[in-house]
Amino acid sequence: MIFSGNSNLSLAKVLAKKTGLRLGKILIEKFSDGEIYVQVQENVKGKKVFVLQSLNCPADENLMELLIIIDALKEMAPEKITAILPFYAYRRQEKKLKQGESITARLVAKLLETAGVDAVILVDIHSDKILDFFRVPAKNIEATDLFVEYFRQLKLKNAMVVAPDKGALEDAKRFAEKLNLEAIFITKKRRTHDQVESMTLSGDVKGKNIIIIDDEIDTAGTISRAAELLKSRGAKNIYVGCTHAVFSGPAMVRLKKAPIKKIITTDTISLPLEKRIKKLSVVSVSSKLAEFVANGVCNVMEDARLKQAKNS
Ligand code: R5P
Repeated sequence: MIFSGNSNLSLAKVLAKKTGLRLGKILIEKFSDGEIYVQVQENVKGKKVFVLQSLNCPADENLMELLIIIDALKEMAPEKITAILPFYAYRRQEKKLKQGESITARLVAKLLETAGVDAVILVDIHSDKILDFFRVPAKNIEATDLFVEYFRQLKLKNAMVVAPDKGALEDAKRFAEKLNLEAIFITKKRRTHDQVESMTLSGDVKGKNIIIIDDEIDTAGTISRAAELLKSRGAKNIYVGCTHAVFSGPAMVRLKKAPIKKIITTDTISLPLEKRIKKLSVVSVSSKLAEFVANGVCNVMEDARLKQAKNS
């Protein structure tokens, strides 16, 4: 059974359909002061269950909702609770840069374990370090594969892949290899958390069709500045492949204005209609998630078969 919080019910429905699993009945309400009430309306005793929740904005509320769902499920003694978190909150602080800071990505992992999660599935997390914060099994799914097929079909001539900062280079390289393309990077300096100060390009992009690969677009400062820089250096058309469409603050204004022909993103975050602009296409991560859920279900069947064999 798959249970879903409120943040990405559409993805949970598609996943349930793809895996043939049922969406578990769950009541989620709010008290007048905003506190969350959850009641699981299924018998999950001894069963393996999945809980899907994207921890995008409002991250604190979505996280708390998830923790309460996990705790409520745990009370009913399931065999295993696997959290599917297409978007992981507080991912950006996975290390301390200054004295007195919190490693928030680790804190979220601790909270999930305290609530009672037994395994975690994440999608294109900011840094592999985050997996080490979990003592329970944690798996990262690479969604950039979904863009490979998209761009293969576009058959772009004279194309090149660009990572908009050094941190995105490894993903960009893996992606470029699959399309037999070269990957270069931009060196980005930030003024504050959300403000890009300067960008420098590491190669020649004149006359090239560019595919920028990044894990997320938040305020779109990185992507819009990168696109402007590439265009000013003579790039032809600019395409963007980005897993998480966070789109906060000035993002929509920047994306509309930026010299970008097409942005391909995924449904790790459920986008409201007003953010689905013309140059944006959404591919679903459900097929990728379904592979892992199916593996989990196969394990259940295998376990049951082993148990039966042992008893007979
Ligand atoms: C940075 O490390 C990430 O890969 C993204 O480039 C960044 O989070 C995007 O943020 P923004 O859209 O606010 O520039």
